[in-house]
Amino acid sequence: MPTRAHFPTLIYCEPLQKSPATLARLNSELADECRKLREFDTAGRKWSAQNYPGGYTSYASMNELHRFSSTFTALEKKLTAHVRAFARTLDMDLRGRSVRMTDCWVNIMPESTAHSLHLHPLSFISGTYYVVTPRGCPGLKFEDPRLSKFMAAPPKLPSARPAHRPHITYPAEAGNVILFESWLRHEVAANRVPDERISISFNFNWS
Ligand code: NI
Repeated sequence: MPTRAHFPTLIYCEPLQKSPATLARLNSELADECRKLREFDTAGRKWSAQNYPGGYTSYASMNELHRFSSTFTALEKKLTAHVRAFARTLDMDLRGRSVRMTDCWVNIMPESTAHSLHLHPLSFISGTYYVVTPRGCPGLKFEDPRLSKFMAAPPKLPSARPAHRPHITYPAEAGNVILFESWLRHEVAANRVPDERISISFNFNWS
């Protein structure tokens, strides 16, 4: 092969754990806690009204949920194992180093709420865990990090392989974890179904 791929962008997607029954139980507890948090978090509701129209996020008010709720602490433990596995795939040298969740927050998207293009500063791996994903709700759309460098490149063929396309959307599926390097820009299109989509986003750092 005269041509080889270098500098890949990796995205990780895996069920949080194997047993669907355990996942269903965890998700029902998490969904309950997420909705209670929305009721209780006045500052977060106020911030969301300005910055997350129609929806609720605890991003600016309660973003260390793994320190206050045993359900979220249990989630943190499971996610840390996935982050370590992803870091191994990226050949990151974390031998003798610690990896820890720095932020963890809730996102509730009712119909018409969207989350515009962003990245996650001050961390190395970020991701989302899906708690409630009604059929037809939007997935997580990633953008090729080299998009601004394509300059005079012609458009891609309709048959282009997924790895060669400028965007890829991962469907949101309850029980799945999606991980990516924190510099990778992503967005969630508007929810077009009448039911709420609930996810938990998080950042990891190492030391
Ligand atoms: Ni994000």
